[in-house]
Amino acid sequence: MSAPLIVLVGPMGSGKSTVGALLAEQLGVAYRDTNADIVASEGREISDLFVEEGEPYFRELERAAVRNAVATHTGVLSLGGGAVLDDASRELLAGLPVVYLSMEVEEAVRRVGLNQARPLLAVNPRKQWRELMDARRHLYTEVARVVVATDERTPEEVAEAVLDAL
Ligand code: S3P
Repeated sequence: MSAPLIVLVGPMGSGKSTVGALLAEQLGVAYRDTNADIVASEGREISDLFVEEGEPYFRELERAAVRNAVATHTGVLSLGGGAVLDDASRELLAGLPVVYLSMEVEEAVRRVGLNQARPLLAVNPRKQWRELMDARRHLYTEVARVVVATDERTPEEVAEAVLDAL
């Protein structure tokens, strides 16, 4: 049975895509990202899917994308920041080498802030970040084998910390 070598979870802006691509390059394996899979299969940006179809529709697509990627991908895999909200997806991650890229709220506000392309943060980013982290922190922790803090670290430093931690 094939399984991902490394699965990255964590909030938007924690560096999953950048660190994931770096790790894949360093390990000489393929990189995959469930958001990119959804954009490719739907032919629309994630922000357009949220606006035009609503969040529940996106979450259905995300659940299917996670199931498919976990079953078929053998390299480094990044999941969208909200993928861990889904019970079935969290169950699928059990036993896999999942790394939680953590980030403090203030770092998130600095890095992502008010970002129209990220539909969950359209207004009052600090309050929304706090709520989002409070709602999800325990879910990231639940699925993670290791936690790597990304605050004030470059993607290269985070990638090195991930390899050290696994
Ligand atoms: C989301 C995170 C985004 C994307 C969508 C929803 C979330 O992915 O899936 O905008 O709920 O946190 P990234 O974490 O890769 O930005």
